[in-house]
Amino acid sequence: MPTVSPSLLLKHCRLPDDSPQVSPVDIAIAADKIVAIAPQLDLSAPTVIEVAGSLVSPPFVESHIHLDSALTAGQPRVNQSGTLFEGIEIWRDRKQALDFDDVCQRAMQALKQQASQGILYVRTHADVSEASLTALKALLSVREAVKDWMTLQVVAFPQDGLYGSPDSADLLEEALRLGTDVVGGIPHYELTREDGVRSVQRIFALATQYDRLIDIHCDEIDDDQSRFLEVVAACALRSGLGSRVTASHTTAFASYNNAYALKLMGLLRRSQINFIANPLINITLQGRTDTYPKRRGVTRVKELWQSGLNVSLGHDCIQDPWYSLGTGNMLDVASMAVHVCQMTGQDEIQACYDMITTQGAKTLNIADGYGIEVGKPANLIVLDAESPQAAIRDRATVKAVISRGQILAETTPPRLSWYL
Ligand code: FE2
Repeated sequence: MPTVSPSLLLKHCRLPDDSPQVSPVDIAIAADKIVAIAPQLDLSAPTVIEVAGSLVSPPFVESHIHLDSALTAGQPRVNQSGTLFEGIEIWRDRKQALDFDDVCQRAMQALKQQASQGILYVRTHADVSEASLTALKALLSVREAVKDWMTLQVVAFPQDGLYGSPDSADLLEEALRLGTDVVGGIPHYELTREDGVRSVQRIFALATQYDRLIDIHCDEIDDDQSRFLEVVAACALRSGLGSRVTASHTTAFASYNNAYALKLMGLLRRSQINFIANPLINITLQGRTDTYPKRRGVTRVKELWQSGLNVSLGHDCIQDPWYSLGTGNMLDVASMAVHVCQMTGQDEIQACYDMITTQGAKTLNIADGYGIEVGKPANLIVLDAESPQAAIRDRATVKAVISRGQILAETTPPRLSWYL
């Protein structure tokens, strides 16, 4: 029993890894910590939530989003081809009009939308290819503004490449000095393969020098000759940075021949790097140059998971030049992964749920403070579902979001009335 009086009590909670036979538990929270978990807690609290057997889960983790471009779809024009490269061109025009308040206002709107749907951990990329570093400065300011209710990591992301223009590499380093959590890159978009390799080496050197995590947009292209993943994995292995390194997208991995993929998988296992797949976006962007058969364009999520590697899922875009849809709902992302990656077995659907919760926490290197356990921070969500599988199937409403022991948001599930 806790020695302090709880401030909040959740009754009859079903946890994500419970079998249907396991009795629901009560969860007691005091201040910002979980202080007790047991089937029948004989405790009272000023605020009691009767969960009545619904799923209570650690919050969703959005491990890959671009908040600086969020909510700009159609500005200054719509992406007619639907390709990644037209998206980059449109963003190049739109970002000429960026100002600090514009980025802050849209990022805050997107973060509130995400939080209301159960996300309390977000890794956002910030484009650092403009000399003013406006997007980066704005997102660092937003990180500070939301820190009491949301954990936001900011990646310094050189959208136009490190060696595409003379100042890009210096801007990336300046972004690290300003305080980004993570250093990023985009080797497949550099002018030559040699520049791509050089960019990965530079990113690792900077991460070591400034003690930062690494998250690289890697091989986001259908070109089966785009092979920067092996460079990232080899650098991770040699540097010992391992699980501090993430390869995002890696869509070309879906186009590699199986002989090469088999050899690569051995290196990946040794490197212990993390992967982020963005199935909503990559099923949309990739395969645009194919006729039929048309590739799915999403990395080998199932095989990476079966190999014991850490895979998480991201939304990538919310209504921006690359993807005019999206609401920030991680259950949409998990559902798309289930379909596109053909992970329809019960344990596979559970794995896709883990990819938006516990696996995402591993990617962000925050696993120590994450999860529903006594002594951990009281961050959890109550879903209108009885299991992770049902939550993905129904895109369940997140009924309550509790951040640092406080109720942050509540949503009433829709109620149907029939008049037949
Ligand atoms: Fe991205």
